[in-house]
Amino acid sequence: MTQQIRRAFYLLFNCFLCLTMLKFSYGIYAINRGVIKMNHVLNTIADRFSCRGYEDRTVEKEKIIAIAKAALQSPSALNRQPWHIVAISDKGLVDEINDHVMDMIKARDDQSAYNRIMERGGKPYYNAPAMFLILKKEDAADWADLDCGIVSQNISLAATSLGLGNVIAAMCGTAFDGPRAEEFKAKVKWPAGYKFSLGVLVGYGNTTKEPHEIDLSKVTYL
Ligand SMILES: Cc1cc2nc3c(=O)[nH]c(=O)nc-3n(C[C@H](O)[C@H](O)[C@H](O)COP(=O)(O)O)c2cc1C
Repeated sequence: MTQQIRRAFYLLFNCFLCLTMLKFSYGIYAINRGVIKMNHVLNTIADRFSCRGYEDRTVEKEKIIAIAKAALQSPSALNRQPWHIVAISDKGLVDEINDHVMDMIKARDDQSAYNRIMERGGKPYYNAPAMFLILKKEDAADWADLDCGIVSQNISLAATSLGLGNVIAAMCGTAFDGPRAEEFKAKVKWPAGYKFSLGVLVGYGNTTKEPHEIDLSKVTYL
């Protein structure tokens, strides 16, 4: 009899273990694979990655306009929209800014950024033919940088959804804070009263990489 009780207990315990493991792996499966049906938005979010190499191919004006519109559709605190977007699709101008940024970075005492760029092909803008500058109002209230960060994500996801590679890049602002800042600001028709917040490089990618690994432990479910 005691043997039977022990067996029953053992069986129950094993069932409990199996159920716990199943529940755990189902949770991961549900998040990774999507027991929920993946849709276009979720696929676009999952597909986005920082693209660091571009073809010599112009981005169609309609796509640039669609991305700029998506940028403007971003939410902002109290709907203040504390931004101005400069959409540059003149590859010659992007290259000119790129070259000046490279000179600035090369001249730094700290060579870490220079070395990183050299490892990535030697161009801070990765040969991208288009660049979106997200400028924020100089006198903006709290949350303006977060608002501009959301704009950068809208640009990035819109570009991804249109088959374009892209990378959100703080480096897009370097030239506008250097010795030739005024000259470059004039070239991009920088509006008065705004400062750089963030940028996104866009184009037809010729490199790919996996998006960063997600860490499921960074979510608490209650
Ligand atoms: C605010 C911000 C600034 C960034 N600046 C740069 C940059 O200047 N150059 C660059 O190559 N990537 C830049 N990145 C891209 C990150 O390195 C990238 O998002 C991160 O490594 C994760 O990789 P993934 O985007 O491919 O998932 C930036 C990203 C963010 C959000």
